[in-house]
Amino acid sequence: MPGIVIIGAQWGDEGKGKIVDHYARYADIVVRFNGGNNAGHTIVINGKKIILHLIPSGILYSRIKCVISEGVVVDPKVLLEEIAMLKSSGYFRDDKNLLLSRNAHVIMPYHKQIDILREEQKGAKKIGTTGRGIGPAYEDKVARCGITVRDLSDRERFKSKLSEIIQEKNKYIKQVLGGEPESFDKIFEEYADFGEKIGKYICDTQDFLYSASAKDKNIMFEAAQGVLLDVNFGTYPFVTSSHTLAASACIGSGVSTFFIKEVIAVTKAYTTRVGGGPFPTELTGSEGDMLRERGCEYGSTTGRPRRCGWLDAVLLRHVVRLNGVTGLAVTKLDVLNELRTLSICNAYKLNNREVKNAAASDVLDNPAPVYEKIAGWMNDISNTKKYNKLPPEAKRYLKRIEELTGAKVIFISTGPSRNNSIILRNPFK
Ligand code: IMP
Repeated sequence: MPGIVIIGAQWGDEGKGKIVDHYARYADIVVRFNGGNNAGHTIVINGKKIILHLIPSGILYSRIKCVISEGVVVDPKVLLEEIAMLKSSGYFRDDKNLLLSRNAHVIMPYHKQIDILREEQKGAKKIGTTGRGIGPAYEDKVARCGITVRDLSDRERFKSKLSEIIQEKNKYIKQVLGGEPESFDKIFEEYADFGEKIGKYICDTQDFLYSASAKDKNIMFEAAQGVLLDVNFGTYPFVTSSHTLAASACIGSGVSTFFIKEVIAVTKAYTTRVGGGPFPTELTGSEGDMLRERGCEYGSTTGRPRRCGWLDAVLLRHVVRLNGVTGLAVTKLDVLNELRTLSICNAYKLNNREVKNAAASDVLDNPAPVYEKIAGWMNDISNTKKYNKLPPEAKRYLKRIEELTGAKVIFISTGPSRNNSIILRNPFK
């Protein structure tokens, strides 16, 4: 059976948590393959909100195995807190349901300090990172001086690696960033203890996924962030430090590219962005405020207000092509319920030319969005369960998204709860 990748088609926060939660019922395994606790996946069950930053949302089903694979950077403190939260909420009763790659890299206290101090130094030019140490942890991985989960779980190896690394980090923190040096003893004791506590979850996740794929298990890969934040293909340098494309499911977890059969891209019915960087369809006035309030657009990781704007079909079309998207999940359609007229950006005015196709990096040249207007439905669609029962204007809006992007809508979310969903196709069947 298939491997399915769920990606974010915008700048993150598209509502992937709910979509993963829905399709997880058909999966045997759910894998997180990129990013770290900069992500926040929100799931609402029976009115109770659960926010997961690291553990795949498949953990809410007792029969699903959840994998945190090689491509993820893991803050062990956050992982342990998340495990405790899940257990106290009545989930995750079997420790065997979580598998943590021994090769995943660890976010250390100095990564967080460097992330925050660098942002402070940049002032107005800051990226607007989540301050969780994500970028510095990936930097160390690539610079070959990172600490892996395997290192953390071996006291002696951890001691020797940390003692080498900390001197250089402290020099940088003190002399370049003007911060307070980190204490070796404090970090060592605290993190060696974390290493022991997470020991029962550590394994060779690549081997586990290989065996599962050979047995035709249903595996769902859950991307963190969104494609427009990809370090290669996003609005660089206003990006995260990992790969957020569907293709990175393979690199980040070690499954074969042949195993991936479907790529489902999750997009809001409008657009949001948190942090700095260009955003052509941003609405800075009262319309943006209205979307933010109706859509409760405040970050689930940092609580920051999200920037809001109209749907950008130019970038969405690019994301569909770049990832071989086989289905679109459109979320938060209900947020547009009361609008008389909607706008969709279908082209950019770039260097005095109107272009229909553009990449995320073109957005750095500040293109002007070209909009088409579509009539709103002015009706509450939150409890609509069937596509045919949607108002004609809502169907027209969805059809137009399909026409402009070339991808079929397979899931429509009309509210935060599992019940507020219109399901058109199941990629696992
Ligand atoms: P970092 O990933 O913390 O380094 O932040 C880099 C950029 O990615 C910033 O603009 C963040 O706001 C953004 N970002 C990182 N993770 C998420 C996410 O899960 N949702 C939305 N934006 C994110």
